[in-house]
Amino acid sequence: MTKILKLNKISKVADKEFPSSYTLTEECDAPEGIILRSFKMHDYPLPESLLCVARAGAGVNNIPLDKCADKGIVVFNTPGANSNAVKELVTCMLFMCGRRLYPAMNWAQGLKGTEDIAKQVEDGKKAFIGGEVLGKTLGIAGLGAIGSKLAVTALALGMKVIGYDPGMTPERLKAIGDVTMVSLEEMFKQADFISLHVPYNDSTKNMINEKAIATMKDGVNIINCARGELVDNGAIVAAVKSGKVNRYITDFPCEEVLGVDGIIATPHLGASTPEAEDNCAYMAAKQMVDFIENGNIVNSVNYPALKKERTGNRRLCVCTKDVDDIKALLKKEGVNVDDMAEAHRGAYGYAVVDTHCNCDCKADKFVNVKGILKARFIG
Ligand code: MLT
Repeated sequence: MTKILKLNKISKVADKEFPSSYTLTEECDAPEGIILRSFKMHDYPLPESLLCVARAGAGVNNIPLDKCADKGIVVFNTPGANSNAVKELVTCMLFMCGRRLYPAMNWAQGLKGTEDIAKQVEDGKKAFIGGEVLGKTLGIAGLGAIGSKLAVTALALGMKVIGYDPGMTPERLKAIGDVTMVSLEEMFKQADFISLHVPYNDSTKNMINEKAIATMKDGVNIINCARGELVDNGAIVAAVKSGKVNRYITDFPCEEVLGVDGIIATPHLGASTPEAEDNCAYMAAKQMVDFIENGNIVNSVNYPALKKERTGNRRLCVCTKDVDDIKALLKKEGVNVDDMAEAHRGAYGYAVVDTHCNCDCKADKFVNVKGILKARFIG
């Protein structure tokens, strides 16, 4: 039995993707795979048996990517699988920045009396006048799966869209449409609305800070459905209180931002739709099974992509570190490397070798080979 440990509740759609020889469990000591959503794995012990971790979602800041890579554990995510759900929530938030729906709805709920409610409504509604998005400029930081979908929607709503994404290619930009790519500094200066869609890492931590906010337009609106850590909470609270920022809408509530007039918080709802949960579970399970069964790597965040048709009766899979030429290394170890593929990502490398022999050669022989982190045969 191949054991898959679930560290969070995962849509049942995943179950169907695992062969009958797999068991999905919420508790086990020696799993071959781990599937999770937001469970924080940084202090989680990584068992020797573990081959891969699949994140049913996009963000991977809850997983120790380097620690996993150093143990030859391949980590996957599911880019794009929940992008429509997040895009829809951000679109809703765009409207909520201008239209004062949240306080207006609370006010309307509190109306009392039967006959004079209509009068109270007409008298009171002027307190909730809010602006439209049509013709305004939306700045999108990060035009990946979510950011690019949002750009298409915003253009259809009649907004001007500017974007910041160092990884943008002419082909991708052409597919998105009429988006002007600018520097982050220029985006801050020009945008009426800013939506964040970048991963959280050392270089993006607190990218919305006091200095950045000072360069923005007065009355700017900021939406954060990416990660809470991208925004300096002290700076945003001060900016909202001073009126520099009109609205801050975040999907990551924390003590500092709660209860501040002008800040709206939702409880990490971006991907919480049944459709997104199904899509992520399906994609995570499929990638995991293809890796465990065939050694193929698709959508890894710590190892290179490598997909090769199975051509032999056994396949050797090898994860390496600081090895420039895996072929040469395996050849030196006596492996027939006539039918192999290798790929590299920074210091980490991955190779598959298809063999036609019927020997029962074990992968243990590679345990002490310098540069090889993990090796296994798929039979
Ligand atoms: C993601 O990273 O995909 C989203 O934040 C949603 C989630 O955490 O499941």
